Amino acid sequence: MSGLFITFEGPEGGGKSTNLGVFARALSDGGCEPLITREPGGTPIAERIREVLLSHHDEPMESDAELLLVFAARAQHLNSLIRPALAQGRVVISDRFTDATYAYQGGGRGIDKDRISVLENWVQGVLRPDLTLVFDLPVELGMERARARSQLDRFEVEEMTFFEAVRRTYLERAAVSPERYRIIDASGSLNEVREAMQPVIAEVLERWHA
Ligand code: TMP
Repeated sequence: MSGLFITFEGPEGGGKSTNLGVFARALSDGGCEPLITREPGGTPIAERIREVLLSHHDEPMESDAELLLVFAARAQHLNSLIRPALAQGRVVISDRFTDATYAYQGGGRGIDKDRISVLENWVQGVLRPDLTLVFDLPVELGMERARARSQLDRFEVEEMTFFEAVRRTYLERAAVSPERYRIIDASGSLNEVREAMQPVIAEVLERWHA
């Protein structure tokens, strides 16, 4: 038995987490109770790595250290939470996963994507998300929303060019594998985004009940 692995992605300020709540409730109403988790994080050890990644430090973090921490958290998360849930046939929804590594450490920090793919294969084997929703919006608008929301974390204080590269990388990856990605326009109101998610919710429920 194998479940369904769904990931939510996108640049800052796309309302991913709120939309994830709406999406998960719709799945529950349709008879499918998903496991909701997030990256970096999802287990106590991985959440501690998240703190190191997101908090500000006196010392600049090396890009390779950042990349390896992201995958250290992922190894923990994957093996102790995600894989067992998928093996039980559950639908797992993760707020970010390895597409974020390609977007932030690859696009944003400029790490070669071949190096990321070595770690991806090492930590994940053949496991990839079955479906990835990319909540896309112009960088300016996303940062405006992120600034209004809370104190900025270590990533959110980056330059606009960093976030432009993040956004571009998500869109490029989606364009190469359209069967896996669904791009949702996140620039509109919550209701508009909710509407845009409906076909994806229907698709997941259909796959789930098949
Ligand atoms: P979020 O709560 O906005 O999703 O915050 C997580 C931050 O971590 C976000 O700025 C993106 C960053 N991140 C990476 O840089 N690489 C990764 O692989 C993941 C999962 C997240």
